[in-house]
Amino acid sequence: MKINNPYSLKGKTILITGASSGIGQSIAILCASQGAKLLLIGRDRDRLEKTKDLCENKSMHEFLSVDLLSFEENKVRVYSFLTDHAPIYGLVHAAGISPTIPFKILKEKQLLEAFNLNVFSVIYLIQAISKVSIRSSEGMSIVLISSVMSEVGEKGKSLYSMTKSSLVALSKSLALEYANKGIRLNAISPSVVDTPLSMNSHYRKDENSLNDVLKQHPLGLGMPSDIANAAVFLLSDASRWVTGTNLIVDGGYLAR
Ligand SMILES: NC(=O)c1ccc[n+]([C@@H]2O[C@H](COP(=O)([O-])OP(=O)(O)OC[C@H]3O[C@@H](n4cnc5c(N)ncnc54)[C@H](OP(=O)(O)O)[C@@H]3O)[C@@H](O)[C@H]2O)c1
Repeated sequence: MKINNPYSLKGKTILITGASSGIGQSIAILCASQGAKLLLIGRDRDRLEKTKDLCENKSMHEFLSVDLLSFEENKVRVYSFLTDHAPIYGLVHAAGISPTIPFKILKEKQLLEAFNLNVFSVIYLIQAISKVSIRSSEGMSIVLISSVMSEVGEKGKSLYSMTKSSLVALSKSLALEYANKGIRLNAISPSVVDTPLSMNSHYRKDENSLNDVLKQHPLGLGMPSDIANAAVFLLSDASRWVTGTNLIVDGGYLAR
């Protein structure tokens, strides 16, 4: 008896933000290995080109270099990129920044930057893609890369936590609002994963702080591929009965 691979993404077009680095790049590589056609978004053209080169069937994939902080200014380019490559089946929002700022000195500019990129940009993308003319008739799977900071706090991380818990809240309400259209929404909450973003964290600069972080992860720190495996599950038909969930992928960080 032939068993279909439920993790296959063959014939599915998937848009990935943050595809030029770290977790987004790793998700792109794994999705391509499962047969997906990819639409890659980031700012840095050279690194987007590199992601495309690292993917199987590289001539099949497309990229758009765009600053998601200026979504309104770039709306026409983004919309034509989406319509040119419709129908779109999947969206992964991995673009993000992780500011560490003591609450008492938080400025409006910093609040707006973090919310604009981490949250508002994907709201605009979901509104665009969920239009009948752009989304796949098979339904859709949308995966928002949140963080364990959506579940717990940390000194200096109030702004980051607020943006990441917003993504979890968004996915739950939209999971209900869009279920009858066959659109599923889920979040993934990683703890510390080795990427350029986490390499720049303050705890990397001092051995004692890094040891403290290591002690909080019973299975050690994560690799981008650990998050990619979870994303492929949530994008594929293997998770056809999963929506509105926050999948914690954290090496045991939250088990304490
Ligand atoms: N690494 C971790 O430990 C960790 C843990 C929990 C959650 N996360 C989350 O995982 C996601 C990916 O993080 P990462 O560690 O892979 O970070 P990363 O390596 O720094 O990658 C961040 C990505 O976001 C894109 N990006 C940043 N600003 C942008 C803008 N204004 N417009 C468009 N794209 C922009 C970057 O594109 P360019 O480089 O081309 O500008 C890059 O592709 C983030 O949402 C982060 O919060 C990470």
